Amino acid sequence: LLEIRQELGECRLCGLSAKRKQVVFGVGDPNADLLIVGEGPGAQEDLQGLPFVGASGEMLNKMLQNVIGLKREEVYILNVVKCRPENNRKPRPDEIASCSSFIERQIRAVSPKVVIALGTIATQALLGTSQGITALRGQWSDWEDILVMPTFHPAYLLRSPQDKRLVFEDLKAVRKRYDALGGKRT
Ligand code: URA
Repeated sequence: LLEIRQELGECRLCGLSAKRKQVVFGVGDPNADLLIVGEGPGAQEDLQGLPFVGASGEMLNKMLQNVIGLKREEVYILNVVKCRPENNRKPRPDEIASCSSFIERQIRAVSPKVVIALGTIATQALLGTSQGITALRGQWSDWEDILVMPTFHPAYLLRSPQDKRLVFEDLKAVRKRYDALGGKRT
């Protein structure tokens, strides 16, 4: 991971680099058995240089702790783009493509047993599909032999709390598979 971070440096591969405050690389246990893939940094993330530290992050922390029984420090968290898209717009396909080799190498380096893809953008980027999250959530898929569970993004849950029960089901399935595969618990 350190090598990947060094190689990334002050990356200028796409236009997002012009307006970012800093690169948001990823955070967590480098040997985690669970890896979370989000969309991209927001304002707080851009300021602090860490993924999921704003309102969505609080929701994500609760989802992890209350349903899967893991603390944020016990998983690894990254986004499909490492620099904030202005006004929190969705990252474009060319921006995601610029970042993808770094994301892929990070996932291989951590080598988790299970990945959770949060929302449409992360799921499409990872699985190379054009289907939306509503069609894909709750169904196991894989990326290079690593199990992937797509579910709704925490920012969506903040707007649509009625769908929390669906995410609860998805995360329960993750917990079950994580434990069956011998995922670490500290
Ligand atoms: N913060 C992140 O780091 N990623 C998201 O997808 C949303 C908020």
